[in-house]
Amino acid sequence: MSRTKTVYTCQSCGYTSLKWLGKCPDCGSWNTLVEETTGKGSDRGPISATGPVPLSEIILGTDNRTSTHIGELDRVLGGGVVAGAVVLIGGDPGVGKSTLILQAMSRLLGSGGGKCLYVSGEESASQLKLRASRLGIDSEDILVLSETSLEVILAETERTRPAFVVIDSIQTTYSEELQSAPGTVGQVRECSARLMLHAKRYGIPTFIIGHVTKDGSIAGPRVLEHIVDTVLYFEGDRAHSFRVLRTVKNRFGSTNEIGVFEMTDSGLMEITNPSELFLRERSSDASGSAATSTIEGTRPLIVEIQALVSPTTFGVPRRTSIGVDGQRVNLLIAVLEKIGGLHLGLTDIYVNVVGGLRIAEPATDLPIILSIASSLKEIPIPSDVFVFGEVGLSGEIRAVTQAEARLNEGEKIGFKRAVIPASNLSRLNQRSDLQLTGVRDIHEAMESVLSR
Ligand code: TYD
Ligand code: MG
Repeated sequence: MSRTKTVYTCQSCGYTSLKWLGKCPDCGSWNTLVEETTGKGSDRGPISATGPVPLSEIILGTDNRTSTHIGELDRVLGGGVVAGAVVLIGGDPGVGKSTLILQAMSRLLGSGGGKCLYVSGEESASQLKLRASRLGIDSEDILVLSETSLEVILAETERTRPAFVVIDSIQTTYSEELQSAPGTVGQVRECSARLMLHAKRYGIPTFIIGHVTKDGSIAGPRVLEHIVDTVLYFEGDRAHSFRVLRTVKNRFGSTNEIGVFEMTDSGLMEITNPSELFLRERSSDASGSAATSTIEGTRPLIVEIQALVSPTTFGVPRRTSIGVDGQRVNLLIAVLEKIGGLHLGLTDIYVNVVGGLRIAEPATDLPIILSIASSLKEIPIPSDVFVFGEVGLSGEIRAVTQAEARLNEGEKIGFKRAVIPASNLSRLNQRSDLQLTGVRDIHEAMESVLSR
């Protein structure tokens, strides 16, 4: 085994130096030198011992997935945990990452799946125990290791040969081979790469918990995301009890799936019908509210979009959007003014997706437009109607994908009418019991829901 050596590599030009420098002498950028190890250590060998194999001779194994027995988690993983997969769970501190993983481990092992090594670098064993008792979890199959040294963690993994490994969190884990502090880019990258090799070699699914920094990236500028197999983000603000688990990357399944949970006094509960949750407190006669059917991954969700239009008291009108892209909302406001003939120049406009959800798909254009128009005109949109459609710059309503799935979800929730793009209506394959109105432009859309 050859010795490993530490070098500092510039992240922008690749220049390497034997000592740390604030400024890269080659490209001149500041603070880009990151500590790395070179050479090969015992756990840096090849994963495969067979060498190259012709593609035609590779035999597909059966999909070796283990269900977590948490349906919403299975959904985002693409149907369960794959042997040797490394799953990164990112999220703000306090969102419930440790809780989710602990619950998942207890369910996984409950079905007779060996042991789990839960490495807690953030909390002491007794803190972990407190959480477990709150969740009603008491398992002799969960081995708790309060440790931050990667070398010790890997040695313990080899000794105990668990069925699952949890690293809580990657920011507290450090390798003794690097001098930099835990949580730095070099450490995060080195530790996750070695955990990855370890997971692949022994086929142990590994869950890595990572904190998200204020600017939204997982600390250690995205390096982690490239290394691991699956990246899940756990979202939700503290003011709301529900949490959304979102797939950002998945080598074993589709991305953009979501799982919905509610944080309760006794842990996370699955929400199998999120549409009902998002509409729970909807008032039926308020103006400025539009229900829509949005597709998250493969899953339709009914959500409420609210708008508030009020006269600007002084200065420049304010435009604030939460849950939808602000630029898109500005564009739609311009369409409403120029094509729809509404006077919005001296009004403040606030748009919000109820429940803290974030949506980024063009099908929400029409509900945004209609909620703004409804608030301005002070005419409520009937509560049994939901709408979806993309709006073009000349006010035309364009077709969206998966219209049938959106309509089915609305019907299931109890809506009676839907206002949809005319081009979608003419192409529908399925009959629906909903009363459908196809609209071609924003005038027709406003006419269909906002006429007194
Ligand atoms: P935690 O899993 O520690 O978050 P993270 O690991 O992402 O930092 O959960 C943090 C919050 O969840 C904490 O504020 C308390 C709350 N909580 C509940 O509301 N119910 C529960 O059953 C548990 C265990 C935690
Ligand atoms: Mg935690």
